[in-house]
Amino acid sequence: MKNIIRIVLIFGFSKALLLGQGILSADIEQKVDVLLSQMTFAEKIGQMTQFSGINEDYEALVRKGQIGSFLNVIGAEETNRIQKIAVEESRLGIPLVIGLDVIHGYRTIFPIPLAASASWDTVLIRKAAEIAAKEAASAGIHWTFAPMVDIARDARWGRIAEGAGEDPFLGAAVARAQVLGFQGEDLSDPLTLLACAKHYVGYGAAEGGRDYNTVDVSERTLREIYLPPFKAAVDAGVGTLMSAFNEIGGVPTSANQFTLRTILKGEWGFNGFVVSDWNSIGELVAHGIAKDRLEAGVKGLTAGIDMDMEGRCYTSDMEALVADEILSEELINDAVRRILRIKFYLGLFEHPYIDENIQKELILHRDHIQTALDLARESIVLLKNEKSVLPLNRKKLNSIALIGPLANDKDSPLGTWRCQGRQEDVVTVYEGLKNKFGDDVKIIYVKGCDVKNNSCSGFDKAIKAVQKADVVVMVMGESADMSGEAASRADLNLPGVQAELINAIAETNKPIVLVLMNGRPITLSNIESKVSAIVEAWQLGIQHGNAVADVLVGDVNPSGKLTATFPRTVGQIPIHYNHKNSGRPNISLDKFTSKYIDLPSSPLYPFGYGLSYTEFKYTGIEVENNRLAPSDELVVNINVKNAGSCDGVEIVQFYIRDLVGSVTRPVKELKGFQRVSLKAGELKTVQFRIPVRNLGAYDLDMNYTVEPGEFSIMVGGNSIDGLTTTVEVVRLK
Ligand code: GLC
Repeated sequence: MKNIIRIVLIFGFSKALLLGQGILSADIEQKVDVLLSQMTFAEKIGQMTQFSGINEDYEALVRKGQIGSFLNVIGAEETNRIQKIAVEESRLGIPLVIGLDVIHGYRTIFPIPLAASASWDTVLIRKAAEIAAKEAASAGIHWTFAPMVDIARDARWGRIAEGAGEDPFLGAAVARAQVLGFQGEDLSDPLTLLACAKHYVGYGAAEGGRDYNTVDVSERTLREIYLPPFKAAVDAGVGTLMSAFNEIGGVPTSANQFTLRTILKGEWGFNGFVVSDWNSIGELVAHGIAKDRLEAGVKGLTAGIDMDMEGRCYTSDMEALVADEILSEELINDAVRRILRIKFYLGLFEHPYIDENIQKELILHRDHIQTALDLARESIVLLKNEKSVLPLNRKKLNSIALIGPLANDKDSPLGTWRCQGRQEDVVTVYEGLKNKFGDDVKIIYVKGCDVKNNSCSGFDKAIKAVQKADVVVMVMGESADMSGEAASRADLNLPGVQAELINAIAETNKPIVLVLMNGRPITLSNIESKVSAIVEAWQLGIQHGNAVADVLVGDVNPSGKLTATFPRTVGQIPIHYNHKNSGRPNISLDKFTSKYIDLPSSPLYPFGYGLSYTEFKYTGIEVENNRLAPSDELVVNINVKNAGSCDGVEIVQFYIRDLVGSVTRPVKELKGFQRVSLKAGELKTVQFRIPVRNLGAYDLDMNYTVEPGEFSIMVGGNSIDGLTTTVEVVRLK
């Protein structure tokens, strides 16, 4: 039935590419078939090969049609030059597809993805991706290796910085927004980018939080936690996925037929192509499932990896295997078909070159910088504000002691994967405060210490500055190279002697405003009580300093909410809000419950948490129909009032819990959220309309099922506090 529908629908479409719905364009499929039939074996393998950078040897291979893609080629001039060789000098003139890691901006650098996710603003996140696409495409890039949609429950893992945190529902919403932002309405628009959901799959579940390490999760956990953001990306029409470095339960993801063929290309009907991560096919030898690169190539291709990034495992040596019927050429044909299909949809055959004049108009356009500031402002999370020490009172302010190794640092705001971002474009916190106050307020800046080394020689000068100032603002955290790829940390405290500097300044008894700059949740228990306010400012991109200054003085009321749990200590990891109850939950003083004897079980700051300069009050939760069939819609209304004195935005969160299922269910699951703007004193009724189908889970037989029974509902401003009610799902007669 599905195939018949697909044939009928095809004739109704011109070139609409809806990969996620498996709807293809007949004329493109025909062009692919014709081209494929003309290709030699070497040319087919060439399309499946991607190299990084260009050299004379590669140019010669391009002329032979034996390279289909490059990454890390920068600038319209250079990409046009190599493209000209492919299109005008090779036998079939098949254009190259050129990729780059445009993760959170090309030259206009936005907040790192973990920060942006804390805005919960999928509209603005999409807009940032659109801008990144315009800038990168104007520079000759066709394809970004983004969005990174790996769910991460372990802050030791450096790549938590690149994703949307720990929750599959929010992660799916952000993944969709980024794919739509990068790819736009039409992949053939020269100012859009082909997107690539990565790293498929389970990469964030590495044991010990150590990058590239072993992953061993159940199929149920895979389907309920790690796969949903990839499914959302596929449903949004993502054209490519990238496999990962890790294994899952003994099978590396770059040789995993279950995840790649059974789920992705089978169940989900994915019609784009899969690229390996950098040499992740070649690494099958190190994993110990291939004796050499040729066997690794066979395993990668058989599993469903269509393009080999820098692995040199898809080679003409495979031709002999085909001749000996060890390897089916249909596998190769399917891979090439998928790659050619995307190249046609990208319009590369019609317009292989980029107008080299566009980039200078687009890159760092003032509108792009404004969007970077807007998203930076919304990404800031207020974690503590004792005695409302914030916002700073400009009328009474004469001097600020600005202390810390990151207070005037041009590099760390760019974060990891900064693409073509430049330090010269960055506004530091010091510069942001100068922009804000001019000469009206004296800013005494003292670095005090470095990020990593243990020298305390700057402490005295910092203390003297504090003694002279009305207010102390300390800007501390991680340097950009302490998160991202191959940057796992075993200790999540502030590095170096930053905590010692905070303690030394605290001795002056002046209230401390701590501004954090970090690429992951860090542990703050050793300094939390020493500071009056904590502003989580992450690494916000080029407008970092202006956004922080706006929040510190109250020109912007912070609205961000954490998308990854902040543990009390690293010993609590893995720690996440949607945990299971276990048979002995730590909800009593009973000794024999699941807990630590030396620490509370709760996190320091939970998922969904963030304060405001105003106060939001929730009243009157009401379910419109509390007996529901699986095909119904759950409708819940709640009143939210801005009971404070300044306007604000509240991210209202909707959680469920299936109280009794055929399998254990998390104590909470996010199933909806809304950003609600409320003026001081304003009250709004917020309505959630949730398909009951979304309350399901994978039952004992691994079938996605909405099981009858009682569900509790919680609606509030974080994953801990809210108003609750219950509904019942009934089995249809
Ligand atoms: C890296 C990363 C991947 C990136 C690729 C190309 O190793 O794992 O995220 O897209 O190589 O740079």
